Amino acid sequence: MIYFNQFRNLKTVEIYPHDGVNIIYGDNGQGKTNLLEAIWLFTGAQSFRQAKNNEMIKFDTSFAQLKMNFYAEQRDQQAELRIEKVKTAILNGVKLSSASELNGRFCAIVFSPAHLTLVKGGPGERRRFIDGAICQVMPRYIEILSAYNKILSQRNALLKDCAKFPALLDTIDVWDEKLCAMAGEIYIARKRYTAKLNRMAQDIYCGLAGENETFNMKYCTQDNNEYSNAAQFCDDYIKKLKESIGNDVAQGYTTKGVHRDDIDIYINGYSARSYGSQGQQRSAVLAMKLAEARLLEEITCEMPVALLDDVMSELDIKRQDFILHHLDGWQVFISCCDPAPVMRQTGGCAFEVRNGNIIKSL
Ligand SMILES: Nc1ncnc2c1ncn2[C@@H]1O[C@H](COP(=O)(O)OP(=O)(O)OP(=O)(O)O)[C@@H](O)[C@H]1O
Ligand SMILES: [Mg+2]
Repeated sequence: MIYFNQFRNLKTVEIYPHDGVNIIYGDNGQGKTNLLEAIWLFTGAQSFRQAKNNEMIKFDTSFAQLKMNFYAEQRDQQAELRIEKVKTAILNGVKLSSASELNGRFCAIVFSPAHLTLVKGGPGERRRFIDGAICQVMPRYIEILSAYNKILSQRNALLKDCAKFPALLDTIDVWDEKLCAMAGEIYIARKRYTAKLNRMAQDIYCGLAGENETFNMKYCTQDNNEYSNAAQFCDDYIKKLKESIGNDVAQGYTTKGVHRDDIDIYINGYSARSYGSQGQQRSAVLAMKLAEARLLEEITCEMPVALLDDVMSELDIKRQDFILHHLDGWQVFISCCDPAPVMRQTGGCAFEVRNGNIIKSL
């Protein structure tokens, strides 16, 4: 059961989705993505559209409320979200200290056309993806990441002050050591996760595109160096921080570090960003997202719910069929304007979204 109340344009309604494929169809602007966005929020993450809380509350009202029953950790569970200035969450009747504590309780992956920036966009998009994926399988990673970001901004503040008061530079070693320790853990976690994801995504890409195309992704540091463990990384990073201190003070920020790293993605050996076709780029993102779900399943033994927003457009029939086949056995919410191609899939159910009403039609 999923209950929506004052969430974007969706009418107050309760729906009972199928355990398998749920097709969410309707014309443009009717509320399909809103429905998927609402489900996604139960993962404890921010909106996949980067929406602020107030943007998700129905116009001219002061809060939105969502409820959901789900099965995870081998039991039926209930979660409730209330969105005001901040989000609050209740899990199985217990109020959580913040909605992000839902992380790891309800697992899902989402594909939306906005995620094409994973291939087309800048490195920040790819770091965000990889960090989010690691958080779902290694909850401690959130703390490491936020510690790193906090130290980084303190170091940056100090760098700015150093321009006026050079004597402050003597205190930077303390920050550098702390930064190194966190960066080493981040580097190793990202590198290992990317390698695993790559193996899984290669299989899926091959299934989508056929044997004639290859997919490859690789975690890349700023200087293209590779390290086999965190200690090795730290030794090198501390040197780099020292070498670049003059530049860092001049720029007013930390120019070296894992906050500048990237993931290179290749199709047939060439950069997917520069040379991939629309369908190839979409397939690459899908392969990465489906691989993320498979890894989540493998590591946590939970079957994540797949939220696929407008996934079929730009894909040929062969690729569409592969997706539907590949998702067999998962709970999936798949949105589209024209349900006909997806209807070939049997055994699921369909909901039409019309002006915020969600009507079960199959
Ligand atoms: N906070 C809000 N309150 C009320 N309505 C909203 C709010 N935010 C968005 N909407 C409305 O939701 C609609 C868009 O919904 P959504 O993005 O889910 O459409 P969609 O069915 O996915 O369309 P498409 O097929 O074009 O992707 C728009 O009409 C928009 O005005
Ligand atoms: Mg949409």
